[in-house]
This record gives sequence, C-alpha cells and structure tokens, in this order.
Amino acid sequence: MATPKNEPSCNARAASVSDIPLEDRYVLLIEAVQDYAIFMLDADGNVSSWNPGAQRIKGYTHDEIVGRHFSTFYTEEDIAAGKPARELQIAADAGHVEDEGWRVRRDGSRFWANVTISAVRDASGALLGFAKVTRDMTDRMRLTELERASEVSAQVQITRENEQKRIARELHDDLGQQLTALKMSVALIEATLAARDDTASLVPQTHALQTEIDAMAMSLRRIAADLRPPLLDDLGLTAALEWLAEDFTKRYGVVATVHVEADEPQFNEFASTTLFRIVQEALTNVARHAAASRVRIELAHDGDRLSLDIEDNGVGANLGSPPGSTSFGLLGIRERVRQLHGTVSYISSPGAGFHISIRVPSAFVR
Ligand SMILES: Nc1ncnc2c1ncn2[C@@H]1O[C@H](COP(=O)(O)OP(=O)(O)OP(=O)(O)O)[C@@H](O)[C@H]1O
Ligand SMILES: [Mg+2]
Repeated sequence: MATPKNEPSCNARAASVSDIPLEDRYVLLIEAVQDYAIFMLDADGNVSSWNPGAQRIKGYTHDEIVGRHFSTFYTEEDIAAGKPARELQIAADAGHVEDEGWRVRRDGSRFWANVTISAVRDASGALLGFAKVTRDMTDRMRLTELERASEVSAQVQITRENEQKRIARELHDDLGQQLTALKMSVALIEATLAARDDTASLVPQTHALQTEIDAMAMSLRRIAADLRPPLLDDLGLTAALEWLAEDFTKRYGVVATVHVEADEPQFNEFASTTLFRIVQEALTNVARHAAASRVRIELAHDGDRLSLDIEDNGVGANLGSPPGSTSFGLLGIRERVRQLHGTVSYISSPGAGFHISIRVPSAFVR
C-alpha cells in the first residue's frame, strides 16, 4: 500500500471520525478510496501525491511515481498528439477538464479511464497544481461494447430473416407459379400429341418432362421452406415446430416429437423466429453429433415464463471440455436466448443424452 508523505496524525483511540481533525479526515478519506486514483500534480504536471486507489489502478507505488511527469499514464499516440499538455492547459484556463480514453498502467497494459483534472489555486488565484481523479471504466466499457454487439447481432439476424422471407416468397410465388404454368403447358402438349397417331410416340417423353418439373417444384418448395417455413408466419410457432420435427424425422430417421403444454402465447415475430431457429440449430446438432433414436421438444407456458426443452437420448457430450474454435451453434443459441432476456442451460454427460433447457420471461415473447 502507498505510504503518503503527509501521514495523518490520526489519534488511534478516536471514538468516531468526527473526533479526528478535519484535515486528517480528508487524508483518511482519500487513503480509503480504492476505486479511484486520486492524486495531485504540481503546476508542471509532475505527480506530487498518490493514493492506494491510484496504486491499485495504475500499478505504481508512491515512491516509484512521485516526481514523474503525469504524461507517463498516457498512450504513445496521445503523447505524440500533445494531449497531456493540452488537458493541463484546459484545466488551467477553464478550471476543470474531463476526458475518457485509454491510459497505460505500469506494466504497459491499457485501461479505459474516466479522468477529471481540476486546477488548484491559492487565495490570490496563483496556480499551485492540479487535482486528478481517474476511474478505471474498462469493465463498464466492455459491457457497453458487448451490449452494442448484441444489439447489432440481433439487428443482423432480423435483416437476414427478412431477406430470407423475401427470397422464399419470390421462389414460391414467382418461380413456383411459373413451374406450375410450365407443367400445365406440357400436359396440354402431351394431350395433343396423344390424340394424333403420328405423334403418340412422343407422349412418354412429355410425361418424363412433367415428372422432372414436379421434382423441380418439390426442390423449390423445400429450399423456400428451409429459408423461411411458411407455417411460422401463417400458423405460428407450434405448427412450424411440428412441421420441423416431421421433416427432421423423415430426413434423418430420428423420431422427433413436439409437446406443447397449455396454450401457445401470442408470440411476437422476433420471439417465434428466434425460438424456431434455436430448435432448428439444436436438431442440426442431434443429427450431427448425437447418434440418437429420438428427440423430444417441449414447449410450456405458465403465464409468466416460457420454457423450451430439447432433449435427445444420444451419446451426449462432455461439457467440461472447452468448445472447439469452429463451434458456434451452442454459442449462437446462448446469444439468441440472451436477446429474449432468458437463460439457457446445457445438461449432458457422455452416454446420457443432451438436454437444452431454456427459460424466457413471457413479457419478452409476446
Ligand atoms: N445433441 C448433442 N449430442 C451430443 N453432442 C452434442 C450435441 N449438441 C452439441 N454437442 C457437442 O457440443 C459441441 C458444440 O456444439 P456446437 O453446436 O456449438 O458446435 P458444432 O455443432 O460442433 O459446430 P457448428 O458451429 O456448426 O454448430 C459439438 O461439437 C458436440 O461435440
Ligand atoms: Mg452445431
């Protein structure tokens, strides 16, 4: 801990702080503060006092720093740009300057600081030096950055969903209609060819053409539904999940079932899309990693809270081992749940299946 040069002459037997002389009380106050670096600079900007908070935040002891110029705390870029001198000048002229930016600790690491410099003058107005208060805001700044990143990611997801919806609709309404028209034209040609003896031999070819058109229409419907399941917009989340489970069972031979307890709440579009994408991601994992024979999707709503559980009976995973650098599925689910202000738990161990348990306050899904 820093040893202040002006050690307070505090009476160890003082019954309360009010028994301590006022001047000593101020010194004790500054000594007690851990979250702020509070220190003084002389009129040239050299450090002339230091508190334990300053030592904690910046890493220098009292003896290491007193006498050194305060520009030591600034980054090379700020020093090159003349920022320390400029801030002192503003404080001297205006009485006070406040700044937020990167500062440098003794070990060279950077922290995001909120800094206030106030000019200290004597009774005649002559500049004696400066009082400087610095607060480490790195954690708060990281939190703000995280929140911003999360907002951006939610916005990107909304934009992507809208774009997928648009493409799915175009595929269905435009290309889908054209294929239907094409099939009808070929059917007409087939009927005409069949009616004449000299062209009847071409009927099998036109028939094959129609089969190809049917296959194309089916692919198109599948691609459009993968982009945006039409049921999600038309009939809601439960219907879309049932479709997803049925399709999954057909595609992978793993029996997927959907159980819905109580009435489905009136989901807002963001929530139903988010929950649908979570289940889709969870099922993709079941198909890729679980070697399961069944997976159960359970949606329950008790008025205040929505629960979504996806549980398979597959090989499970060791959740203690760090996730692979290319594994984003579970992270993505966590982020989506966060956007709904909910919580998610992954419960699994080798041989015991995999269970994703999600709880979301109703207020954020309606
Ligand atoms: N249902 C499951 N059964 C068994 N293991 C699973 C299951 N779901 C996830 N895992 C394990 O958790 C890991 C992380 O899953 P995650 O979805 O995050 O990444 P991934 O599927 O490997 O890659 P991607 O980023 O393409 O999703 C998987 O690699 C797998 O080992
Ligand atoms: Mg995955």
